Amino acid sequence: MKDKIAVLYGPVGGNTEKVATLVAKKIGAEKCDLIPVKDVNEETIKSYPSFIIGSSTIGTHNWSHKNTSSDWDEFMPRFRNLNFDGKKVAIFGLGDQLAYPNNFVDHMRTIYDVLIESKATILGHWKTDEYEFNESAAVIDDQFVGLPVDEDYQDELTEQRVDAWLNTFLQKL
Ligand SMILES: Cc1cc2nc3c(=O)[nH]c(=O)nc-3n(C[C@H](O)[C@H](O)[C@H](O)COP(=O)(O)O)c2cc1C
Repeated sequence: MKDKIAVLYGPVGGNTEKVATLVAKKIGAEKCDLIPVKDVNEETIKSYPSFIIGSSTIGTHNWSHKNTSSDWDEFMPRFRNLNFDGKKVAIFGLGDQLAYPNNFVDHMRTIYDVLIESKATILGHWKTDEYEFNESAAVIDDQFVGLPVDEDYQDELTEQRVDAWLNTFLQKL
């Protein structure tokens, strides 16, 4: 097994990729591999002890596997069958709290639920202050299940958020 962190992300080409690249840069290129979810398979999961997984939320209707318009739509059915037992995982999610205040970063919850079902250990829960939203499926017991990043409304906070978030769990991965 590789002694590295795998940063899995999707979709490619947008804000999620931008933040995944920033996360990888902060960890250090020699300590992590950046892998789009469309390239992830069982071997990928077996090869690493720990993961950081990123996604954007683009509407719950889009997560049906009948819709193959995004990398996660295609990946989700495969993701549900991967084995994360014994793996440590932190989640980040892109969202827009101003335009989607009732579903802010909801997709982090979908990812979290799959990982919990697969017996992963989740690290990197995050506080809800500093965000303005009404509802989010990604909040459990007053905490987000991972780090929300809002490149539409609070992009100036992204780097400091990523730094502070990584600081809370990186040494535990
Ligand atoms: C059609 C559409 C639906 C969206 N729905 C949500 C949503 O339900 N919740 C949310 O927090 N953000 C939502 N967003 C905002 C995106 O998550 C945000 O712009 C994100 O940065 C996009 O990242 P990407 O370029 O990697 O896909 C939506 C954006 C679009 C275009």
